[in-house]
Amino acid sequence: MAYPEFPDHSRFTPVASVLAGAAEGEVTVRGWVYRTRSSGKLAFVVVRDGTGILQCTVSKAKVAAGDFDAACSALRESSVVVTGTPAADDRAPGGYELRVSGFEVLHYAETFPITQDLGDEHLLDNRHLWLRSRPMVDALKVRATAFGAFRGFWDSQGYTEVQSPSFVSGACEGGSSLFDTYYPDESAEGGKSFYAHLSQSWQLYAEATMFGLERIYTLAPSFRAEKSRTRRHLTEFWHGEVEAAWVHNEQMMAQEEAMLAAIITAVLARNRPELERLGRDPAVLEAVQPPFERLKYAEVLELLNGMGFDLAWGDDFGYREEKALTQERTQPLYITHFPREKGFYHRPDPADPKVLVCHDLLAPEGYGEIIGGGERVWSPEELAARIAEEGMEPESYGWYLDLRKFGSVPHSGFGLGLDRLVAWLCGADHIRDVIAFPRTMRRTTP
Ligand code: 4AD
Ligand code: MG
Repeated sequence: MAYPEFPDHSRFTPVASVLAGAAEGEVTVRGWVYRTRSSGKLAFVVVRDGTGILQCTVSKAKVAAGDFDAACSALRESSVVVTGTPAADDRAPGGYELRVSGFEVLHYAETFPITQDLGDEHLLDNRHLWLRSRPMVDALKVRATAFGAFRGFWDSQGYTEVQSPSFVSGACEGGSSLFDTYYPDESAEGGKSFYAHLSQSWQLYAEATMFGLERIYTLAPSFRAEKSRTRRHLTEFWHGEVEAAWVHNEQMMAQEEAMLAAIITAVLARNRPELERLGRDPAVLEAVQPPFERLKYAEVLELLNGMGFDLAWGDDFGYREEKALTQERTQPLYITHFPREKGFYHRPDPADPKVLVCHDLLAPEGYGEIIGGGERVWSPEELAARIAEEGMEPESYGWYLDLRKFGSVPHSGFGLGLDRLVAWLCGADHIRDVIAFPRTMRRTTP
């Protein structure tokens, strides 16, 4: 078909303003057919745009014959331009309908491949089309608010946003979840290429950048070749990370609490309708109130073993453990004093060097870890010793060791998994429900 001229934007009214009762007289909306029901004389076409859905009532007697046929025959997702007069109507979704005087189809859609009950894999295969669905649109709106509030909070605290590379040479979070990427170098001997890794965290680079700016943050993808196929693991996830000089572990935790409160406040202010449509009771988020409870790793170990787990000192808490721990909780929970093996960069507690001055924050309702952070080893000797102790290659960390040689200072930081946070805010069943194109071990398409 020949496409019509690009329409004049000034003519169109967003569905949301019709639903708000703000539109006067005849208006024109444009969007996509969401569903249609028609009889011989009347067609109810629900049209959605980026702002909402609106029932358009087309009466055969009141429009040109061609317009009525178009309204009846345009399949779901056809793009349309509809003119009419808004009228309050309790039976219509949103309380308003459009009494139509003109109905134009810009493009007749083919039969949409997504119908009810086709299963998760089908929806994932068709994610490029499923993104038009209400649950996706609603979750993406909550997500956008959370991202904006993360930025807004750290800006308001005087932190500077900084970017670090995605191609890196050393591991920050251990070798087992490191992605190797092909890095073409035509000049190399025999035309061979070498491998680079994809960044698991900006942290090591942040610690370098911090010396100039003191307080910094980023919002960027991180990559983990996760063997875990759980409802909270992505291979590419969005990481909100913060690093600050002269800040201790407890102070960082207090700032995280304020950040979470700010994000929740923003979502409640902006996304109540989205939360409600997603089946998430906003009261659950309203009730979240820092300061959050703090438990030591040793205490959590005991708690979990009391629940029937069989964990020994040094064991990691995975999805199952964290789920059991947080399932019945309504407030986030901090776990502190993890065993020394948790990470080479965390500062061992001077009072008890078998544990670290660090923390994880677990979301309630079974969602589990959303933040990992802590105070960094800042003494050059101690850092070199920790790298050796963990059996890591000091050559890969030469520049990182360098940072401790020139005016080292106490400092702390953390990483927030934004996809996990948004999954909890939305009450989503799976992390992939809150990101447009989820990347997991099994999926890089669409
Ligand atoms: O606990 P992690 O591994 O901590 C770090 O990467 C630190 N270097 C951060 C820092 O101090 N700057 O990761 C931080 C958070 C986790 O708490 C979790 O929310 C999220 O990142 N995360 C994931 N989210 C989704 N899918 C995955 N595979 C994730 N791995 C970590
Ligand atoms: Mg962690």
